[in-house]
Amino acid sequence: MARAWRQSKNRIVKNVFCFGCLFIVPLLVLAVVVYSKSKSAEALSLPVEFSSTKTDGLLQKLFYLIVLIMSDPTKSATRKAIRETWLSNNHEDVKHLFVVGSKGLAQDVLQNILEENSSHHDMVILDSINESYNSLTGKILAGFQWLHANHNFSFLLKCDDDSFVRMSPLIEELHKQPQNHLYWGFFKGGSSVFQKGKWKENDWFLCDTYLPYALGGGYVLSSDLVEFIAINALLLQQYKSEDVSVGVWLSPLKIHRVHDVRFDTEFKSRGCYNEYLITHKQSANEMREKHANLTKTGKLCQSELRVRYSYNYNWTVLPSKCCKNFDPELP
Ligand SMILES: *[C@@H]1O[C@H](CO)[C@@H](O)[C@H](O)[C@H]1NC(C)=O
Ligand SMILES: *[C@@H]1O[C@H](CO)[C@@H](O)[C@H](O)[C@H]1NC(C)=O
Ligand SMILES: *[C@@H]1O[C@H](CO)[C@@H](O)[C@H](O)[C@H]1NC(C)=O
Ligand SMILES: *[C@@H]1O[C@H](CO)[C@@H](O)[C@H](O)[C@H]1NC(C)=O
Ligand SMILES: *[C@@H]1O[C@H](CO)[C@@H](O)[C@H](O)[C@H]1NC(C)=O
Repeated sequence: MARAWRQSKNRIVKNVFCFGCLFIVPLLVLAVVVYSKSKSAEALSLPVEFSSTKTDGLLQKLFYLIVLIMSDPTKSATRKAIRETWLSNNHEDVKHLFVVGSKGLAQDVLQNILEENSSHHDMVILDSINESYNSLTGKILAGFQWLHANHNFSFLLKCDDDSFVRMSPLIEELHKQPQNHLYWGFFKGGSSVFQKGKWKENDWFLCDTYLPYALGGGYVLSSDLVEFIAINALLLQQYKSEDVSVGVWLSPLKIHRVHDVRFDTEFKSRGCYNEYLITHKQSANEMREKHANLTKTGKLCQSELRVRYSYNYNWTVLPSKCCKNFDPELP
């Protein structure tokens, strides 16, 4: 009797279970498919979490400046030119790192960058970043997270692999800047939001124009600002342009925004002035020539040259009026 009851109970349980399976299993499968689809779509743009290795003891050295150079995996000749020119003088307490994404990279290219890294020990290889898919914004965010997790430093210089930097004067000038909460570069405000083309902004709604930001050819952040961005990375909206995004991420902060005309960091060089600390849009050959001239004569420009006018940012007015004081006296 008891056994019969147990059996029939088992049958009922089994039947209920199997009846349930009919609905639950397909639902579960569907849920997993939908979830993993949305995950894989997000995985390309959302930053990943990094575990901190700072406590390992190995990476406890404090660098005054870390130079993060955004580079493309295939551009090893450009990196070679940079190492042989503006990075060729060793500065104590300064470390440079080339940041490349390796997701979906052809095996031979990956092999090459691993070899390049084993000879130079100066590459950050981000396996969450697909160079041919991700915007530079996702890459910069992953780079900041990596840096925050792996190094002790006071300042970060972010630049591109077509930037030419005069390291010694830059470091010298950096010592004269506020040592905390620093956002130093060539600022722009009130510029129009890209509505079409490669730089089209689909997610921009904050304002009719971009917010003030330092142009991406080179800017310096104190480590507290890098940390702020790194620890909030999962919540930050990413825009198409990396420099625009950094400006937005730092926009609510009470920090030192220092506009400096010696940062020739716009989409196109303003010309050549001996005061320039950074010049953007330089080919590998131009870097070699500039470096050779600089070494030989001590001067960056054999004759100074203006291509476009420069301005001082006016912080007392709104962005639409910030950047109109074009001044022929400025480099
Ligand atoms: C590196 O950072 C850790 C944690 O912030 C700190 O305890 C340590 O003293 C730093 N190392 C150096 C060399 O400053
Ligand atoms: C990387 O992006 C390219 C271009 O969008 C795509 O074809 C490729 O499948 C991606 N690779 C990975 C591993 O995500
Ligand atoms: C690149 O080189 C550095 C320094 O030698 C090393 O710590 C790092 O693991 C290397 N990265 C890869 C992906 O091999
Ligand atoms: C280097 O110097 C030579 C000779 O003065 C000059 O013609 C050339 O334009 C300079 N190159 C660069 C990149 O400034
Ligand atoms: C900034 O703009 C205000 C208002 O137009 C003007 O009075 C001031 O002189 C400007 N400051 C600079 C540094 O140009």
